[in-house]
Amino acid sequence: MPIEHYAVFGNPVGHSLSPRIHVMFAQQTGQTMRYEAICPPLDGFAAAVATFAAQGGRGANVTVPFKEEAFRLAQDLTPRAQAAGAVNTLSFVKNGFVQDGSGVRISGDNTDGAGLVRDITVNLGRDLRGARILIFGAGGAARGVIMPLLALQPASIFIANRTAEKALRLAADFQVAGGGFAALDKQTFDLAINATSAGLTDAVLPTPTFSANALAYEMLYGRNTPFMQSASAAGVQVVDGLGMLVEQAAEAFFVWRGVRPQTAPVLAELRTKPRAALSK
Ligand code: ATR
Repeated sequence: MPIEHYAVFGNPVGHSLSPRIHVMFAQQTGQTMRYEAICPPLDGFAAAVATFAAQGGRGANVTVPFKEEAFRLAQDLTPRAQAAGAVNTLSFVKNGFVQDGSGVRISGDNTDGAGLVRDITVNLGRDLRGARILIFGAGGAARGVIMPLLALQPASIFIANRTAEKALRLAADFQVAGGGFAALDKQTFDLAINATSAGLTDAVLPTPTFSANALAYEMLYGRNTPFMQSASAAGVQVVDGLGMLVEQAAEAFFVWRGVRPQTAPVLAELRTKPRAALSK
């Protein structure tokens, strides 16, 4: 069987765990594929994708800062990519209908929200029906998870952002509530998701009021952010975004290969060896 090529595109991309994750998925499911990390220049994403596809690449993951550009590049978009306004999974489809010079049609999907939801509902065993959900942040990361969360029929979603107008605009797009941090007073939440990048600079967010048995979910991974620390101090369960990372990868793998890998052993491996060398 020929080796099929996949890649993750990001800049920087050296830190990405995606190659390790997909190599583990491929070994586990007996799929013959290669997966590499590609770092195009900031103004060279579309060209790098075109080259990769022309050389026979079958699909790609897309990470910071190219997800919005991937959204614009894709000729077909899934409903969840459309709702997210961003694409993290590209498939290059050769279907005989020549769409451009190389005959490859680019299809865009977004598996981030599905990954978050699967981590929370399956891995963490949480039922979000009727839950009061708080999302910190009003950028691409927040937008990408709202639709899949709404599908779980929570009681409410509140979007809180440092810049209140952005929260209000995003909330209006999905017909949920939103506002600045001051609007968090007098509200209680069963789930708080940090979809801001505040943790990267150790910036502190307000600590919301949690219900008993609440969950605090940090989308970043690999560091104990102030959001995680304050939620821990408030006595609620706290998790980082490593599970979401593995689950969004599994969903992308399923989109490409039609096979759903088991995520638990991969997550366990990454937790015990966060920086293991890439096995070839
Ligand atoms: P992403 O695509 O990862 O969501 P983004 O679109 O740049 O990235 O959005 C970053 C989010 O993190 C925004 O909600 C931003 O708040 P503002 O809209 O007010 O800028 C939030 N953010 C970043 N740094 C923050 C900080 N120090 N405190 C609070 N929020 C912060």
